[in-house]
Amino acid sequence: MSTIEKALTKLNRDNTGRAEDSDQHTEQKTAQKTEQKTMVQRATEHDVSSAKAVASPQPDKHDGAAHTVQLDLALLEKNNFVSLSKDRRLINEEYRVIKRKLINNAFGALSKTLEHPNLILVSSSRPGEGKTFSAINLALSIALEQDKTVLLVDADVLRPNVSKTLGISHHLGLTDYLQSTSVTVPDILLSTNVERLKVITAGSPHHLSTELLASERMSQLVDEFSTRYPDRIVIFDAPPLLGVNETAVMAAMCGQAVIVVEENRTRLAEIEQSVSLLPKEMAVGFLINKAHRNQGKGYGYGYYYGAS
Ligand SMILES: Nc1ncnc2c1ncn2[C@@H]1O[C@H](COP(=O)(O)OP(=O)(O)O)[C@@H](O)[C@H]1O
Ligand SMILES: [Mg+2]
Repeated sequence: MSTIEKALTKLNRDNTGRAEDSDQHTEQKTAQKTEQKTMVQRATEHDVSSAKAVASPQPDKHDGAAHTVQLDLALLEKNNFVSLSKDRRLINEEYRVIKRKLINNAFGALSKTLEHPNLILVSSSRPGEGKTFSAINLALSIALEQDKTVLLVDADVLRPNVSKTLGISHHLGLTDYLQSTSVTVPDILLSTNVERLKVITAGSPHHLSTELLASERMSQLVDEFSTRYPDRIVIFDAPPLLGVNETAVMAAMCGQAVIVVEENRTRLAEIEQSVSLLPKEMAVGFLINKAHRNQGKGYGYGYYYGAS
């Protein structure tokens, strides 16, 4: 286990421990719960090309969405995102491990102890650590599951890169919904050519973009996401935690968080500060991104519990 992984594991253990202490649970329960809630996963540096995808919107009257977009899956695969056809790629393996844990938290025993366990916030301390890359790969990986659907929401309204990366140029998205009651969920919900993947783009830039994320309308939308389709995982590609106050407000609406940590760049003090902004009761996973392959075990990734 690398130094950063040890530190993160300890950090999350301390965090979970504090929440448990206040509940006066037994030490054994604390250990059990810590083990369930703690996760550190590595994603190696991949050869991501910058070729831009172009998706073509088409009308669609099915399944709560007014439009369908055709994602260029061949190009995404070429750009080294999780592949929907070549399941044995390294990146598929990496995201399979973290996806499994998130799905277990969302629908397994722990889900009863979490509020909105199927809502997952993907964030980081600072911009550029790989939130969008991770959120898209997680969404693709979950879409490979036979019995789950996934909704990917671009909530990084200041740097909305989901639509850019997926090549979607839909005119209505999250901020449009949040600022106007005449915009409905079907207006912003996009079906895709990946049967189990839906997308909501960030929407038009707005001078109150981040404030909108902390609004009552956002809270109601998130509630609806959580309860309306119980078999659905919702992934929010969120702004960074440091410097954007609304990210912590959004975190409080979600049951799980994946904190992306860029190997050799993110400082531990920043990670500690970010974690301190998250609600104590949420399940937190750390994704060490752009990890160098020779530092992991075997395939270049590791997966550690707090107790290990
Ligand atoms: N594991 C990775 N391997 C290679 N490139 C990556 C990886 N993760 C992110 N990147 C690249 O790093 C840049 C920043 O990532 P991005 O996901 O846009 O960050 P954020 O959303 O946190 O601002 C992008 O160009 C992205 O393609
Ligand atoms: Mg981003």
